[in-house]
Amino acid sequence: MCSTGERREREVGWATGEGARVVVVGKGGVGKSTLTAMLARTMARCGATVVAVDADEQRNLAATLGLDSSAMSAIVPLAGDADYIEEKTGARPGEGSGAMLRLNPDTGDVVDRHAVAAPDGVRLLVMGGVPRAGGGCLCPENALLAATLANMRLRRGEMVIMDTHAGVEHFGRALARGFDRALVVVEPTFNSVQVGLETARLARELGIVAIDLIVNRCRDQQDLARALAYVQGMDDSKFGSITALPFDQALLECEPSISGLKDDSPLALAVTRLCRQLFEVQLDGSEQGALAGVR
Ligand SMILES: Nc1ncnc2c1ncn2[C@@H]1O[C@H](COP(=O)(O)OP(=O)(O)OP(=O)(O)O)[C@@H](O)[C@H]1O
Ligand SMILES: [Mg+2]
Repeated sequence: MCSTGERREREVGWATGEGARVVVVGKGGVGKSTLTAMLARTMARCGATVVAVDADEQRNLAATLGLDSSAMSAIVPLAGDADYIEEKTGARPGEGSGAMLRLNPDTGDVVDRHAVAAPDGVRLLVMGGVPRAGGGCLCPENALLAATLANMRLRRGEMVIMDTHAGVEHFGRALARGFDRALVVVEPTFNSVQVGLETARLARELGIVAIDLIVNRCRDQQDLARALAYVQGMDDSKFGSITALPFDQALLECEPSISGLKDDSPLALAVTRLCRQLFEVQLDGSEQGALAGVR
């Protein structure tokens, strides 16, 4: 894996000439925040400029990335900054239903104004916001959140990776419209595969072209085979790739953060390989052999 020291010197290779916009989706508890944080850390260590976006109202990503409590208490979620929302959309939170909103506000300053520093040079943007009953998709917060993500212009070597709320509700807000890739996370259970396939369908409807299946918490080949059998039994849709990630006991010992997880732990090695496969990251080969048992 690229070490922190060499991260700025290394060239990150990308599958496309532009930056990458990745959304992580799936049922509750399958490992979305963990995978988002691991991808952000790995890509940043390999030289990418990474903005991790927490679009889950539970806001677990800061702790998962390893921010300490004082850094976390300084975070102002975008949806909670009423002045910024009014400046950008023309309406304050709560005024959405009758007000005329600027639906395409200029949010080019959002990362500089709202993102906080996380370990390894990752920047974290916390969206926040609980959709109010009856608030609908056109409330100022949602207009701003959707515009912010849609307007982020990414250059080669830049990456946005977004953690989402469990299940499918966030698709109603279309936050991932314009994203290049969806990672559908499941574990080897019927219910998580069922929800995963539904999220894959909605991602396709949003126009996301690259959809990959991640089978997390595999203890052995049987776990992976079980998950794949569920997939085949429910749906014949094709995923761009299927990757198994191992159950890693060390992760539980680092709770709630991934920051204590060593680079040579089974999960870290597997995520490094995933980054190489998805983003053509140039790696030093030390990840070879990761997941030999389950992939
Ligand atoms: N590969 C793994 N091996 C062992 N434990 C894991 C693995 N992936 C995730 N976990 C653990 O599973 C739990 C749930 O993970 P995580 O919070 O990432 O899920 P989530 O999908 O984001 O959940 P939510 O839907 O509540 O946001 C955490 O305790 C995490 O440490
Ligand atoms: Mg989560």
